[in-house]
Amino acid sequence: RIYGESTKGRSSWPWPVSLAGWRQAAREVLGESAWGYLEGGAGLEDTMKANREAFSHYRIRSRMLRDVADRDLSVSMLDMEFPVPLLLAPIGVQAILHRDAELASAKAAADAKIPFILSTVSSVPMEQVAQVMGTSVRWFQLYPGKDRDVVSSFLARAQASGYSAVVVTVDTTMLGWREADLQHAYLPFLHGEGMANFLSDPAFCSRLSQSPRENPQAAIQEFLSIYVNPSFTWKQLAEIRDMTDLPVLVKGITHPDDAARVEAMGLEGVVVSNHGGRQVDGGVAALDALVDVRNVVQPDYLVMMDSGVRCAADVAKAMALGANAVLLGRPYAYALAAGGREGVVELLQQWKAELDLQLALSGHRSLETLNGGYVVRV
Ligand code: FNR
Repeated sequence: RIYGESTKGRSSWPWPVSLAGWRQAAREVLGESAWGYLEGGAGLEDTMKANREAFSHYRIRSRMLRDVADRDLSVSMLDMEFPVPLLLAPIGVQAILHRDAELASAKAAADAKIPFILSTVSSVPMEQVAQVMGTSVRWFQLYPGKDRDVVSSFLARAQASGYSAVVVTVDTTMLGWREADLQHAYLPFLHGEGMANFLSDPAFCSRLSQSPRENPQAAIQEFLSIYVNPSFTWKQLAEIRDMTDLPVLVKGITHPDDAARVEAMGLEGVVVSNHGGRQVDGGVAALDALVDVRNVVQPDYLVMMDSGVRCAADVAKAMALGANAVLLGRPYAYALAAGGREGVVELLQQWKAELDLQLALSGHRSLETLNGGYVVRV
């Protein structure tokens, strides 16, 4: 379908078919500040570069002359089957990318039957996102803010509205040194973006002395004051675990000792991630961290990864090096900006098609047979 449609020309088929094309399409529709927020990393963006370089240090060793006519890209996570090993990463404030914001990307994930991870700082309240997703799989990403009551309320709301796992992001208790945003003097949060879950929360609203309508600046200040939480530790992570019946995953792990501790705490999994290089500059590449993490946890422990994944070959490499699945970050944000729900649907179909070809041409029928022998480190 994609080969057929794309040859009809741009007038009848508007979608890019390359990462560069999607990126360019997003760049054309976004203003400078939003683009800088989406694309920028911390400091010299050295972690961001390392994320990409790490993938090129592993080369795929294809196997030939195997019957690969019948293929299956499915994986299972948390006792559920998914048709492809992809999830949509939590990306906050999607209203700066497209007017339909998380409603568009959530519906696209539902169309593709892959999990959608909704950010704490989404532009749409979690219940509204849940409503448009029906029974499709959604997980809630929690930024563990300072106020226990708000955290507990978010967890209860997520469970009540059908989110089936909690992803606690631990690498962003404060925002990193992001030079693009500093240069543009722009942060969506300072403009009241990303507060939808807060403004719809009774525990948060009880902290305000005036309604957000009367005094929006005071609401923004209050939101920022609890959202930034540099004193967060393992003790509070354990408290979060005890506050919910949902499986808890921890996102933002790069050190193997941290991964081992998450596993020892009885939490359900980790997302190896450096937040797309947006937090710590000069950090270890996510793919290299994945290898270290996989070495210390049980073979069947749920380990996902993101940061720097830009094509199907990257997904295959990550799977071979021990990931159970991979989160898409900026690539789907480009597609959302460029084409809303239809854009993300199209992007996901392209990734699925590319991964299917990648697997077949390198001699595999299923992701299960990808292991360390699939790649060689150069
Ligand atoms: C993010 N990320 C993120 N993570 C999270 O846990 N909660 C969030 O609200 C956000 N928000 C966010 C906004 C934007 C604009 C970006 C680019 C990223 C991090 C995200 O989930 C994921 O870890 C990275 O995007 C992965 O890196 P790449 O693949 O985008 O380089």
